[in-house]
Amino acid sequence: MPRPKAFVTRVIPEAGIERLAAVYDAEVNREDRQLSPQEIAGHAKGCQALITLLTDRVDGALLDLCPDVRIVANVAVGYDNVDVPAATERGVWVANTPGVLTETTADLAWALLMATARRLGEAERFVRAGRYHGWGILMLLGGDVHGKTLGIVGFGRIGQAVAKRARGFEMRVLYTDAQRVSGAVEHDCRATFVDKATLLAESDFVSLHVPLMPQTHHWLGETEFMAMRSTAYVVNTSRGPVIDEAALAKALRSGWIAGAGLDVFEREPQVHPDLLACENALLLPHIGSASIETRDRMATIAADNCIAFARGERPPTAVNEPVQAKA
Ligand code: GLV
Repeated sequence: MPRPKAFVTRVIPEAGIERLAAVYDAEVNREDRQLSPQEIAGHAKGCQALITLLTDRVDGALLDLCPDVRIVANVAVGYDNVDVPAATERGVWVANTPGVLTETTADLAWALLMATARRLGEAERFVRAGRYHGWGILMLLGGDVHGKTLGIVGFGRIGQAVAKRARGFEMRVLYTDAQRVSGAVEHDCRATFVDKATLLAESDFVSLHVPLMPQTHHWLGETEFMAMRSTAYVVNTSRGPVIDEAALAKALRSGWIAGAGLDVFEREPQVHPDLLACENALLLPHIGSASIETRDRMATIAADNCIAFARGERPPTAVNEPVQAKA
Protein backbone atom coordinates (compact mmCIF):
# COMPACT_ATOMS: atom_id res chain seq x y z
CA MET A 1 0.00 0.00 0.00
CA PRO A 2 1.47 3.42 -0.91
CA ARG A 3 1.76 5.79 2.02
CA PRO A 4 -0.83 8.58 2.09
CA LYS A 5 0.39 12.11 1.39
CA ALA A 6 -0.05 15.29 3.36
CA PHE A 7 0.78 18.93 2.77
CA VAL A 8 1.41 21.30 5.68
CA THR A 9 0.76 24.85 4.49
CA ARG A 10 3.27 26.51 6.83
CA VAL A 11 5.87 25.55 9.40
CA ILE A 12 4.34 23.98 12.52
CA PRO A 13 6.11 22.53 15.60
CA GLU A 14 8.28 19.51 14.79
CA ALA A 15 6.30 17.38 17.26
CA GLY A 16 3.39 17.43 14.80
CA ILE A 17 5.50 16.92 11.71
CA GLU A 18 7.30 13.91 13.23
CA ARG A 19 4.00 12.37 14.29
CA LEU A 20 2.54 12.88 10.83
CA ALA A 21 5.63 11.47 9.12
CA ALA A 22 5.15 8.13 10.86
CA VAL A 23 2.15 7.50 8.61
CA TYR A 24 2.22 10.10 5.83
CA ASP A 25 4.68 11.28 3.25
CA ALA A 26 4.48 14.83 4.43
CA GLU A 27 5.63 17.96 2.64
CA VAL A 28 5.94 21.14 4.68
CA ASN A 29 6.05 24.68 3.33
CA ARG A 30 9.28 25.58 5.08
CA GLU A 31 9.14 29.20 3.90
CA ASP A 32 7.25 30.82 6.73
CA ARG A 33 4.84 32.70 4.51
CA GLN A 34 1.22 32.37 3.61
CA LEU A 35 0.70 30.59 0.29
CA SER A 36 -1.87 31.55 -2.32
CA PRO A 37 -4.69 29.09 -3.04
CA GLN A 38 -2.97 28.18 -6.31
CA GLU A 39 0.29 27.47 -4.51
CA ILE A 40 -1.49 25.34 -1.91
CA ALA A 41 -3.28 23.45 -4.68
CA GLY A 42 0.00 22.85 -6.50
CA HIS A 43 1.60 21.32 -3.41
CA ALA A 44 -1.53 19.46 -2.33
CA LYS A 45 -1.79 17.57 -5.62
CA GLY A 46 -2.14 13.89 -4.72
CA CYS A 47 -2.44 14.73 -0.98
CA GLN A 48 -5.29 13.30 1.09
CA ALA A 49 -4.53 15.50 4.09
CA LEU A 50 -4.07 19.24 4.30
CA ILE A 51 -2.80 20.75 7.53
CA THR A 52 -3.76 24.41 7.68
CA LEU A 53 -3.31 27.40 9.95
CA LEU A 54 -5.80 30.12 10.81
CA THR A 55 -4.14 32.37 8.24
CA ASP A 56 -5.25 30.03 5.41
CA ARG A 57 -8.65 30.65 3.88
CA VAL A 58 -10.05 27.21 3.08
CA ASP A 59 -13.18 27.61 0.98
CA GLY A 60 -15.02 25.67 -1.69
CA ALA A 61 -12.84 27.19 -4.42
CA LEU A 62 -9.65 25.97 -2.75
CA LEU A 63 -11.13 22.53 -2.09
CA ASP A 64 -12.14 22.30 -5.77
CA LEU A 65 -8.50 22.99 -6.66
CA CYS A 66 -7.45 20.16 -4.31
CA PRO A 67 -9.71 17.27 -5.34
CA ASP A 68 -7.62 14.63 -3.55
CA VAL A 69 -7.84 16.30 -0.15
CA ARG A 70 -10.20 14.47 2.21
CA ILE A 71 -9.25 15.99 5.53
CA VAL A 72 -8.41 19.56 6.51
CA ALA A 73 -6.75 19.59 9.93
CA ASN A 74 -6.69 23.19 11.15
CA VAL A 75 -4.05 23.86 13.80
CA ALA A 76 -6.32 26.11 15.90
CA VAL A 77 -9.40 25.77 18.02
CA GLY A 78 -11.19 28.41 15.93
CA TYR A 79 -12.08 27.34 12.41
CA ASP A 80 -13.82 30.41 11.00
CA ASN A 81 -11.10 30.38 8.30
CA VAL A 82 -12.60 27.14 6.96
CA ASP A 83 -15.89 27.01 5.08
CA VAL A 84 -17.17 23.93 6.89
CA PRO A 85 -20.40 23.50 4.87
CA ALA A 86 -18.34 23.64 1.64
CA ALA A 87 -16.06 20.90 3.01
CA THR A 88 -18.96 18.83 4.29
CA GLU A 89 -20.73 18.84 0.96
CA ARG A 90 -17.51 17.83 -0.80
CA GLY A 91 -17.03 14.89 1.57
CA VAL A 92 -14.06 16.48 3.33
CA TRP A 93 -13.46 16.20 7.08
CA VAL A 94 -12.58 19.33 9.01
CA ALA A 95 -10.85 19.06 12.39
CA ASN A 96 -9.64 21.62 14.94
CA THR A 97 -7.51 21.46 18.12
CA PRO A 98 -9.84 22.00 21.08
CA GLY A 99 -8.99 21.54 24.74
CA VAL A 100 -5.22 21.73 24.66
CA LEU A 101 -5.05 25.51 24.41
CA THR A 102 -7.76 26.35 26.95
CA GLU A 103 -5.54 27.14 29.93
CA THR A 104 -2.83 28.84 27.88
CA THR A 105 -5.36 31.16 26.23
CA ALA A 106 -7.00 31.88 29.59
CA ASP A 107 -3.55 32.80 30.96
CA LEU A 108 -3.06 35.26 28.11
CA ALA A 109 -6.52 36.77 28.61
CA TRP A 110 -5.56 37.41 32.22
CA ALA A 111 -2.19 38.82 31.26
CA LEU A 112 -3.96 41.24 28.92
CA LEU A 113 -6.60 42.11 31.48
CA MET A 114 -4.03 43.01 34.12
CA ALA A 115 -1.66 44.70 31.70
CA THR A 116 -4.49 46.83 30.32
CA ALA A 117 -5.86 47.87 33.72
CA ARG A 118 -2.40 48.73 35.05
CA ARG A 119 -1.22 50.33 31.80
CA LEU A 120 1.83 48.08 31.40
CA GLY A 121 2.25 48.79 27.68
CA GLU A 122 2.33 52.53 28.28
CA ALA A 123 4.55 52.13 31.33
CA GLU A 124 7.08 50.07 29.40
CA ARG A 125 7.13 52.54 26.52
CA PHE A 126 7.59 55.33 29.08
CA VAL A 127 10.74 53.72 30.52
CA ARG A 128 12.23 52.81 27.13
CA ALA A 129 11.63 56.34 25.86
CA GLY A 130 13.84 57.66 28.69
CA ARG A 131 10.93 59.50 30.28
CA TYR A 132 11.29 57.96 33.75
CA HIS A 133 12.95 60.73 35.70
CA GLY A 134 11.70 59.77 39.15
CA TRP A 135 8.80 58.22 41.03
CA GLY A 136 5.57 60.19 40.96
CA ILE A 137 2.46 59.70 43.03
CA LEU A 138 0.19 60.45 40.09
CA MET A 139 2.31 58.65 37.50
CA LEU A 140 0.55 56.09 35.26
CA LEU A 141 -2.42 55.45 37.50
CA GLY A 142 -4.59 52.54 36.38
CA GLY A 143 -7.62 50.65 37.61
CA ASP A 144 -7.72 47.95 40.28
CA VAL A 145 -8.45 44.38 39.27
CA HIS A 146 -9.14 42.68 42.62
CA GLY A 147 -12.66 42.90 43.92
CA LYS A 148 -14.09 44.12 40.61
CA THR A 149 -16.75 42.58 38.34
CA LEU A 150 -15.61 40.46 35.42
CA GLY A 151 -18.07 39.93 32.58
CA ILE A 152 -17.32 36.92 30.38
CA VAL A 153 -18.87 36.71 26.94
CA GLY A 154 -18.98 33.10 25.76
CA PHE A 155 -18.85 30.53 28.56
CA GLY A 156 -17.20 27.58 26.84
CA ARG A 157 -13.93 25.98 27.91
CA ILE A 158 -11.84 29.16 27.71
CA GLY A 159 -14.46 31.45 29.24
CA GLN A 160 -14.79 29.08 32.19
CA ALA A 161 -11.01 28.86 32.65
CA VAL A 162 -10.87 32.66 32.72
CA ALA A 163 -13.66 32.71 35.33
CA LYS A 164 -11.82 30.25 37.60
CA ARG A 165 -8.74 32.47 37.67
CA ALA A 166 -10.90 35.35 38.95
CA ARG A 167 -11.33 33.59 42.30
CA GLY A 168 -7.83 34.52 43.42
CA PHE A 169 -8.73 38.15 42.80
CA GLU A 170 -12.00 37.93 44.72
CA MET A 171 -13.95 39.15 41.74
CA ARG A 172 -17.64 38.86 41.03
CA VAL A 173 -18.07 36.94 37.78
CA LEU A 174 -20.95 37.43 35.35
CA TYR A 175 -21.29 35.60 32.07
CA THR A 176 -23.51 35.63 29.04
CA ASP A 177 -23.86 33.10 26.26
CA ALA A 178 -26.48 31.78 23.86
CA GLN A 179 -27.12 29.03 26.40
CA ARG A 180 -26.85 28.88 30.16
CA VAL A 181 -24.42 26.26 31.50
CA SER A 182 -25.42 23.76 34.21
CA GLY A 183 -25.76 24.80 37.83
CA ALA A 184 -22.75 22.62 38.67
CA VAL A 185 -20.51 24.51 36.22
CA GLU A 186 -21.85 27.88 37.41
CA HIS A 187 -21.10 26.84 40.98
CA ASP A 188 -17.62 25.56 40.09
CA CYS A 189 -16.81 28.83 38.29
CA ARG A 190 -18.73 30.98 40.81
CA ALA A 191 -20.34 32.70 37.85
CA THR A 192 -23.79 34.20 37.39
CA PHE A 193 -25.67 34.09 34.10
CA VAL A 194 -26.94 37.50 32.94
CA ASP A 195 -28.24 39.03 29.73
CA LYS A 196 -26.07 41.16 27.47
CA ALA A 197 -27.43 44.48 28.77
CA THR A 198 -26.73 43.57 32.41
CA LEU A 199 -23.25 42.31 31.62
CA LEU A 200 -22.36 45.52 29.81
CA ALA A 201 -23.83 47.76 32.50
CA GLU A 202 -22.30 45.98 35.51
CA SER A 203 -18.88 44.75 34.37
CA ASP A 204 -15.59 46.46 35.10
CA PHE A 205 -13.91 44.06 32.65
CA VAL A 206 -15.54 42.49 29.61
CA SER A 207 -13.58 39.54 28.23
CA LEU A 208 -14.60 37.94 24.93
CA HIS A 209 -14.47 34.16 24.40
CA VAL A 210 -16.98 33.46 21.63
CA PRO A 211 -16.26 31.86 18.27
CA LEU A 212 -16.67 34.12 15.24
CA MET A 213 -20.10 33.49 13.72
CA PRO A 214 -22.70 35.76 12.12
CA GLN A 215 -24.32 36.12 15.59
CA THR A 216 -21.06 37.26 17.23
CA HIS A 217 -19.80 39.57 14.44
CA HIS A 218 -19.47 43.09 15.92
CA TRP A 219 -20.96 41.85 19.20
CA LEU A 220 -19.38 45.00 20.65
CA GLY A 221 -20.11 48.14 18.66
CA GLU A 222 -20.91 51.78 19.32
CA THR A 223 -24.18 51.10 21.16
CA GLU A 224 -22.52 48.55 23.44
CA PHE A 225 -19.52 50.75 24.25
CA MET A 226 -21.87 53.57 25.19
CA ALA A 227 -23.71 51.16 27.50
CA MET A 228 -20.51 50.23 29.36
CA ARG A 229 -18.99 51.96 32.36
CA SER A 230 -16.53 54.72 31.56
CA THR A 231 -14.08 52.96 33.92
CA ALA A 232 -14.44 49.57 32.19
CA TYR A 233 -11.91 47.62 30.11
CA VAL A 234 -12.44 45.27 27.17
CA VAL A 235 -10.23 42.25 26.56
CA ASN A 236 -10.37 40.27 23.31
CA THR A 237 -8.55 36.98 22.83
CA SER A 238 -11.24 35.44 20.58
CA ARG A 239 -11.50 36.79 17.04
CA GLY A 240 -11.04 40.38 15.88
CA PRO A 241 -14.36 40.85 14.07
CA VAL A 242 -16.27 40.25 17.32
CA ILE A 243 -15.46 43.94 17.96
CA ASP A 244 -16.21 46.81 15.60
CA GLU A 245 -12.71 48.30 15.69
CA ALA A 246 -13.68 51.73 14.38
CA ALA A 247 -16.30 51.97 17.15
CA LEU A 248 -13.78 50.77 19.73
CA ALA A 249 -11.26 53.43 18.71
CA LYS A 250 -14.00 56.05 19.03
CA ALA A 251 -14.97 54.69 22.48
CA LEU A 252 -11.34 54.78 23.66
CA ARG A 253 -10.78 58.27 22.31
CA SER A 254 -14.04 59.62 23.70
CA GLY A 255 -13.61 58.11 27.17
CA TRP A 256 -16.71 55.89 26.87
CA ILE A 257 -14.51 53.10 28.27
CA ALA A 258 -11.11 53.19 30.02
CA GLY A 259 -9.05 50.82 27.93
CA ALA A 260 -8.83 47.73 25.72
CA GLY A 261 -6.46 44.77 25.53
CA LEU A 262 -6.53 43.13 22.12
CA ASP A 263 -4.79 39.97 20.94
CA VAL A 264 -6.83 39.79 17.73
CA PHE A 265 -7.88 42.24 15.01
CA GLU A 266 -10.55 42.56 12.38
CA ARG A 267 -8.17 42.37 9.42
CA GLU A 268 -5.03 40.63 10.72
CA PRO A 269 -2.22 41.41 10.45
CA GLN A 270 -3.47 44.96 9.85
CA VAL A 271 -4.33 46.98 12.92
CA HIS A 272 -6.86 49.78 12.59
CA PRO A 273 -4.77 53.01 12.44
CA ASP A 274 -7.06 54.70 14.97
CA LEU A 275 -6.29 51.94 17.48
CA LEU A 276 -2.56 52.34 16.93
CA ALA A 277 -3.01 55.96 17.95
CA CYS A 278 -4.77 55.07 21.24
CA GLU A 279 -2.41 54.91 24.23
CA ASN A 280 -5.13 53.14 26.20
CA ALA A 281 -5.19 50.17 23.78
CA LEU A 282 -2.73 47.37 24.50
CA LEU A 283 -2.09 45.46 21.27
CA LEU A 284 -0.68 41.94 20.84
CA PRO A 285 -0.03 39.95 17.63
CA HIS A 286 -2.47 37.02 18.20
CA ILE A 287 -0.38 35.04 20.70
CA GLY A 288 -3.21 33.59 22.82
CA SER A 289 -2.08 29.97 22.54
CA ALA A 290 1.59 30.74 21.94
CA SER A 291 3.36 28.67 24.56
CA ILE A 292 5.89 26.07 23.47
CA GLU A 293 4.01 23.20 25.13
CA THR A 294 0.61 24.18 23.80
CA ARG A 295 1.73 24.75 20.23
CA ASP A 296 3.39 21.29 20.33
CA ARG A 297 0.12 19.76 21.52
CA MET A 298 -1.90 21.58 18.86
CA ALA A 299 0.37 20.33 16.08
CA THR A 300 0.23 16.81 17.50
CA ILE A 301 -3.57 16.81 17.59
CA ALA A 302 -3.70 17.96 13.97
CA ALA A 303 -1.39 15.06 13.02
CA ASP A 304 -3.51 12.62 15.06
CA ASN A 305 -6.61 13.69 13.17
CA CYS A 306 -4.91 12.97 9.85
CA ILE A 307 -3.61 9.63 11.13
CA ALA A 308 -7.05 8.53 12.36
CA PHE A 309 -8.46 9.42 8.95
CA ALA A 310 -5.75 7.36 7.20
CA ARG A 311 -6.75 4.37 9.38
CA GLY A 312 -10.36 4.72 8.33
CA GLU A 313 -11.36 6.09 11.74
CA ARG A 314 -13.25 9.23 12.63
CA PRO A 315 -10.79 12.09 13.21
CA PRO A 316 -11.04 12.54 17.01
CA THR A 317 -11.69 16.28 16.94
CA ALA A 318 -13.66 16.52 13.69
CA VAL A 319 -16.14 19.40 13.60
CA ASN A 320 -18.26 18.03 10.74
CA GLU A 321 -19.78 14.87 9.29
CA PRO A 322 -18.94 14.83 5.59
CA VAL A 323 -22.20 14.06 3.78
CA GLN A 324 -20.77 11.88 1.09
CA ALA A 325 -17.43 10.76 2.49
CA LYS A 326 -15.31 9.87 -0.51
CA ALA A 327 -14.30 6.22 -0.72
C1 GLV B 1 -6.23 30.64 17.93
O1 GLV B 1 -6.66 31.73 17.75
C2 GLV B 1 -7.00 29.44 17.80
O2 GLV B 1 -8.17 29.51 17.37
O3 GLV B 1 -6.47 28.36 18.10
